[in-house]
Amino acid sequence: MRVLVVENYEEMSREAASLFQIRIEEKPGLVLGLATGSTPIGTYKELINRYQVGKIRFQQASVFNLDEYCGLDKNHEQSYARFMEENFFRSIDVDRKNTFIPNGNAKDRQAECERYDTLIRERGGIDLQLLGIGENGHIGFNEPNDLLSAGTHQVELEQGTIEANSRFFVTREEVPKSALTMGMGTILKAKEIVLLASGAKKADAIQGLLSGKISTKNPASFLQLHPRVTVIIDREIADAIKLKQDVA
Ligand code: PGA
Repeated sequence: MRVLVVENYEEMSREAASLFQIRIEEKPGLVLGLATGSTPIGTYKELINRYQVGKIRFQQASVFNLDEYCGLDKNHEQSYARFMEENFFRSIDVDRKNTFIPNGNAKDRQAECERYDTLIRERGGIDLQLLGIGENGHIGFNEPNDLLSAGTHQVELEQGTIEANSRFFVTREEVPKSALTMGMGTILKAKEIVLLASGAKKADAIQGLLSGKISTKNPASFLQLHPRVTVIIDREIADAIKLKQDVA
């Protein structure tokens, strides 16, 4: 695992964007796995800037998103489908036929999860997966638990996650209590993974991720089993966990 310590959120976003740029240059038909949340917004902005000056094209790329809330219409202003549209897709040249997100409103959610994993497989698997991390160590919506799921599945969100997400909703009652998310196996099958974290509140989760121990109580810790992971953290986190220098 490569750990890159950067000074701040902006530098983290630039580093992540550079990795995407390099991989798309190498393979224009890259299959991307993307994430929502506050963390990747800077990366999307940076990629949009590079697109606008002609440094990067997404025409041939495909995108699979990690997760989607259950019970929100895809046009709801807090749906992850809408998030991706507003924060990224509408500003780049990705072909909408090649962007995918689980349908949290599907009648048969089990079938929808299976369909999603099949679709990823049929596209040859995810080449580069972008991840944020929850304060509790979740990746996607794989919440800490005694058992984790391998494939895309429906998950009941933890109280802390619901609270963290409530900042985007008018009332707490509106915050969805469940979601469809790629499973641990879906994520770990990506050929390459980049995880971003900034701000001291993520320090405990990152410490677990770098601990050398694997625990279902910190789903991100499973990334230590993957051969090609880059973790980009800011100085605040590094200081909080007393990581003194970049670790190769
Ligand atoms: P955040 O969420 O980027 O909004 O902090 C990350 C996550 O919960 O995975």
